[in-house]
Amino acid sequence: MAQEAARGQWHSRLGFVLAAAGSAVGLGNIWKFPYITGESGGGFFVLIYLACVLLVGLPIMTAEIILGRAAQRSPVGAFRTLSRRGSPWVATGWLGVVAAFVILSYYSVVAGWALHYTWLSISGALAGMSTEQVGETFGAVYSSPRLNLLWHAVFMAITIGVVWAGVQRGIERWARVLMPAMFLALLAMLVYGVQLPGFGRALDFVFGAHSEKLTAASILEALGHSFFTLSLGMGAMLTYGSYFEREGDAVKASIAIGVLDSVVALLACMVLFPITFSHGMEPAAGPGLVFKGVPMALGELPGGQLLSSVFFLLLVFAALTSAISLLEVATAYFIDERGWPRRRAALLTGLTIAVLGVPSALSGSSELFGAGMEAAVGRNFFDLFDYLASNWMLPLGGMLTALFVGYRLDRALREEEFMRGTTLGKLYRSWLGLLRYAVPVGMAFVFLNALGVL
Ligand code: PFF
Repeated sequence: MAQEAARGQWHSRLGFVLAAAGSAVGLGNIWKFPYITGESGGGFFVLIYLACVLLVGLPIMTAEIILGRAAQRSPVGAFRTLSRRGSPWVATGWLGVVAAFVILSYYSVVAGWALHYTWLSISGALAGMSTEQVGETFGAVYSSPRLNLLWHAVFMAITIGVVWAGVQRGIERWARVLMPAMFLALLAMLVYGVQLPGFGRALDFVFGAHSEKLTAASILEALGHSFFTLSLGMGAMLTYGSYFEREGDAVKASIAIGVLDSVVALLACMVLFPITFSHGMEPAAGPGLVFKGVPMALGELPGGQLLSSVFFLLLVFAALTSAISLLEVATAYFIDERGWPRRRAALLTGLTIAVLGVPSALSGSSELFGAGMEAAVGRNFFDLFDYLASNWMLPLGGMLTALFVGYRLDRALREEEFMRGTTLGKLYRSWLGLLRYAVPVGMAFVFLNALGVL
């Protein structure tokens, strides 16, 4: 087993896969995927999303891992090392660091809601609530500056604590515990979901062929989401790849991470939709789907309090392993490029991100960042950051990474790094073809959509 080198290395290959899967599996899978599937009418959307993961997401995942591993650097340093000093490609690395600040600042606010709901479940406050009360509770949480700020601060403090402790002793150790725990909790919820009267309808909704609600916009949403959910386009996988041992199999690891991520997203749907259908809720309930659906279903149940505590705790775990990877990208920049000690880097970047998250935490309550801003520019602060990250930064970063590896990276190095340690070398040509053609074309669609051309 590899020793922890000066700049950190995973203790084992499994540790890498768990940490990277921990980055991928997060609020995107359990909070966002079910509600966008609901809004897009189910079935076909899921199919298109899976195709995007396979054809666009996985090739970029492998590209990021081998870039990080080859350069032994986080994004900015990796693009600099593998091109040349002053090359415009270095901007791709910068974009990743900026995206880490932006995404984590609002991601932590949603994770804060999950923390608050964990607390509400454990303390019994959710027990026996009527459907209206559950709806009102979400509204009250969303519009409370005090609750949002408090839980956002708590969540950032935990995230900083893990990254502070380092690659093996912080990130990997926590991923090893949290990932299996999260998976088990999800399975327990599934056992409950299967018994609900709405399970059959949920199955049909998620896997049946329903194309009525499918629009060009939802196809493109599936593509954009495949980036967000796999943590691609901002150097998170590149940074984790830089701690991967030289002889590890990057191709197999990518496939394992992609499969785990998709399985959790589908499981989350199979937990949530039986609840929505059994309780007469709309599948298209928007961002409140999880926060309203779960208490509604479990409030009256005998053991419901325990189950909903477990569920929200699982959501916190999933969010934490993702948030860690976001903070690690920002932290690794200061360690690798500025020579800061890890602790200082983790603390200062984490505090900056926590402050940057304040306007997002106040989006449900303040006039300036919330309603007033929405009236003036069409989005509140929280939505604006989510929009900038998901629709612009990640797709742009992903496309640039694909173009860099597909066209700019030294040919011999590219092939050697892909082949290193893998038994799936025969996929090389297809991988390169996808990076060179499928990814740029798919991404061009995302941008045209974001610009309103499509
Ligand atoms: N993949 C995470 C999720 O689905 O919740 C979000 C995320 C984490 C995006 C890390 C980007 C990233 F670098």
